[in-house]
Amino acid sequence: MINISIFVSGNGTNCENIIRYFQKSPNINIGLVLSNNPNAFALVRASRLGIKCKTLTREEIKNPDVILPILRDNGIEFIVLAGFMMIIPEFIINSFKNRIINIHPSLLPKYGGKGMYGHHVHQAVKTAGEKETGITIHYVTPICDGGEIIAQFRTPVSESDTVENIEDKVHLLEQKYFPEVIEKVITQL
Ligand code: GAR
Repeated sequence: MINISIFVSGNGTNCENIIRYFQKSPNINIGLVLSNNPNAFALVRASRLGIKCKTLTREEIKNPDVILPILRDNGIEFIVLAGFMMIIPEFIINSFKNRIINIHPSLLPKYGGKGMYGHHVHQAVKTAGEKETGITIHYVTPICDGGEIIAQFRTPVSESDTVENIEDKVHLLEQKYFPEVIEKVITQL
């Protein structure tokens, strides 16, 4: 059984979908949902499903003496970033080599890097008049949104699509594909 932690900051649609997908899994257990935002709705979603949750300040997340013991005490072996709006400190990346993955709401390397998250990404896609967008699931390295790509999924964008429509299309891809990609990566560990 591999124990994973989901890191979240906001609404938590991905977090809830991942928890539900693995609810009866014999190999993958969600051991902890961790947030840097006490008001993240993701925490409500996870608690309702009986998952242990914890909120830490940014400073605590940046402090190896605080976060590493928490991850260790909860037996965490793999981390999934699902709408986590904070740069992961390098010491966590080093402690979880090739064991942290992120979902990004664009076809990286397009629309990635600093300042490119959530709504900003979809606005940039719309402004550029892109004909398609999508999601990228990738390993987390010290280069923001620059780690090795595991999988990408695409969806067309038309001129009449609003930023909200684009966001909805991307969320549909996330709901459909993220849990199964997580499962594939973990079963290949
Ligand atoms: C998702 O679309 C995710 O791809 C994006 O934030 C959203 C979180 O939604 N992540 C990033 O922008 C990371 N740079 P959720 O909280 O409902 O899962």
